[in-house]
Amino acid sequence: MKIDVIVADESHYKYAQPIIDLMNSSSKEKGTVIAVRSADYIIDKMANHKAVIALAEGGELAGFSYIETWSHTKFVANSGLIVAPKYRGEGLARQIKQRIFALSREMYPYAKIFSITTGLAVMKINSELGFRPVTLACLTDDKEFWEGCKGCQYYDFLQNNNYKICLCTALLYDPKEHIAENKLNKS
Ligand SMILES: CC(C)(COP(=O)(O)OP(=O)(O)OC[C@H]1O[C@@H](n2cnc3c(N)ncnc32)[C@H](O)[C@@H]1OP(=O)(O)O)[C@@H](O)C(=O)NCCC(=O)NCCS
Repeated sequence: MKIDVIVADESHYKYAQPIIDLMNSSSKEKGTVIAVRSADYIIDKMANHKAVIALAEGGELAGFSYIETWSHTKFVANSGLIVAPKYRGEGLARQIKQRIFALSREMYPYAKIFSITTGLAVMKINSELGFRPVTLACLTDDKEFWEGCKGCQYYDFLQNNNYKICLCTALLYDPKEHIAENKLNKS
């Protein structure tokens, strides 16, 4: 089945509620930790071209992810990855992650890019893209980012540990490391 994976814009506002519904239903699945956002939040991401949407034939919503910036754009988070159940297991999450990562690099070439996850799929995909595991302490100390974890059952634990320790694995892409790697490979 052909699925388009594209940068979202104003023409996709009508998908804000279906995206939230998908986030809501997925957040109830065992082992899934995903922040459910408001329609205004999703629309703002689309308006600023900071989201990737996957649409199946007939315009059916198949997946979504968005970009957030933190610590004055020193950090970019690739967040909210979601694939509709009927489109899972076909490599769509990988395609969405690749596109949101490329978009993050285009928009913020000097930023460190990160994701936090409990899921093996995201760990695998991000590792392929050059991310590596780090402690949560290596990520942004912007309180607003960590407040996004409020809906998670482990939020009290995270808060009690000063936003430095929790169950999620942090994955970080530091562009400086890759510049150094490229130089080494060329020499
Ligand atoms: C996690 C999720 C995005 C994966 O979507 P998907 O389109 O099925 O993933 P892909 O088909 O692109 O799979 C990519 C890789 O992850 C693996 N994978 C996918 N789902 C997995 C799972 N639940 N457990 C373990 N590995 C998984 C695949 O096997 C594949 O690896 P491979 O190429 O080595 O075989 C989807 O299940 C989902 O939306 N879940 C609910 C929301 C969620 O958990 N989002 C992530 C928040 S951090």
